[in-house]
Amino acid sequence: MVARILYPELKTPAVLVDMDRLEANIREMSDLCKSAGVKLRAHVKVHMCADIVKMQMAAGAYAVELGTVYGAEALAEAGINDILITHPTSYTGDKTETLKRLLKKRGQKTTIVLDMVEQAQTVSQIGQELGKKVQVALKVDVNAVINGFSRFGVLPEATLKVAKEFVKLPGIDFKGLYAHEMPLNTTKEGLEKAALDCCTLMVDTAKLLKKEGIPVEHLSVGGSPTIRPISRFMREGKFREITEVHPGNFIIGDISYMKEGGNTREMCAGSVLVTVTSTAHPEKAIIDAGFKTFGGDYMVGAAKEPDYWWNGWPTFGEAQGRLDLRCGFLSAEVGSIYYMDPYRKLEVGERIEIVPNNITLVIAMHDQIYGVRRGKVERTFAVTGHGRGI
Ligand SMILES: Cc1ncc(COP(=O)(O)O)c(C=O)c1O
Repeated sequence: MVARILYPELKTPAVLVDMDRLEANIREMSDLCKSAGVKLRAHVKVHMCADIVKMQMAAGAYAVELGTVYGAEALAEAGINDILITHPTSYTGDKTETLKRLLKKRGQKTTIVLDMVEQAQTVSQIGQELGKKVQVALKVDVNAVINGFSRFGVLPEATLKVAKEFVKLPGIDFKGLYAHEMPLNTTKEGLEKAALDCCTLMVDTAKLLKKEGIPVEHLSVGGSPTIRPISRFMREGKFREITEVHPGNFIIGDISYMKEGGNTREMCAGSVLVTVTSTAHPEKAIIDAGFKTFGGDYMVGAAKEPDYWWNGWPTFGEAQGRLDLRCGFLSAEVGSIYYMDPYRKLEVGERIEIVPNNITLVIAMHDQIYGVRRGKVERTFAVTGHGRGI
């Protein structure tokens, strides 16, 4: 007989967010930015819940950002009125139409990030068609210089040249520069160095533009792994040219972000509630959730770590309060939980919470998540724009 069923009112699998942790993380993020005297534009792709965005804004975030124009439209419909779209793209077809709707929306402030002159030319045409200037920031690929891990963006040395082209375009209001540093060395020293290198490079690049008469009203950096050192530098009076920071995952956290230095294990607010469906095998239990719930993020970046493989499989998460359980093999709708301690077995019908490797992926596959506090379901958060290709 199972002693106590966790959250019996919920169907499993269900995605939970611990309200105490969520609120503490939101508060910590806001306090870091307030103490640094820098504006917080929360990156919200991790949860995409308009109601969590509103909690972040109530705590001090002045605006938000996310990757796509579709996500931006969904949040704008939910009442979020200052949104920056971070992923440079060529606005064609349906993306153009969606961007136009956003730009025409009364009271809505939209800024887009681009990294090519060709993209900017298209956006300038859109602006001219609407009789407006579209606010644009230029994405700088800081990682290419600070650690060689290039994702996207204009190379730092080409920034001035590209910015000069942007400012010539009649349908664009060039606002400044955007960077998203992604440290590879996740030790405390490694994160500090990435933060320092990124801020130095971005501030120097902004100065270069200003010297040429290009205004840089917007200068943003700062992800979850680097926000602590960046806020400290700013408290010390350094890099005052930075106008805003944009951390994201920090407020919910997961196992992969923990490995990247973005959150501690204690900060993880998200988990998946699952039910044990079978204990037929003596060495493992089967749960009612698989790839369709957890996604397939096996954190391959950690594949060289000594405990990465076990019984031929990496792990898909960590059971809350049960380090004796190894979350091992997943198929589409079920998962295997192996006993590392043969004296602590699970029972059929028992529920456990698993902190997943990648909470962004987990939430993106759900319509709603549940805010829980000390064992009770407190509220339901709709995942805004779910099912709209965001
Ligand atoms: C472009 C961009 N900016 C900011 C963020 C937020 O970064 P983090 O979640 O590390 O705080 C992300 C996250 O994916 C991102 O892709």
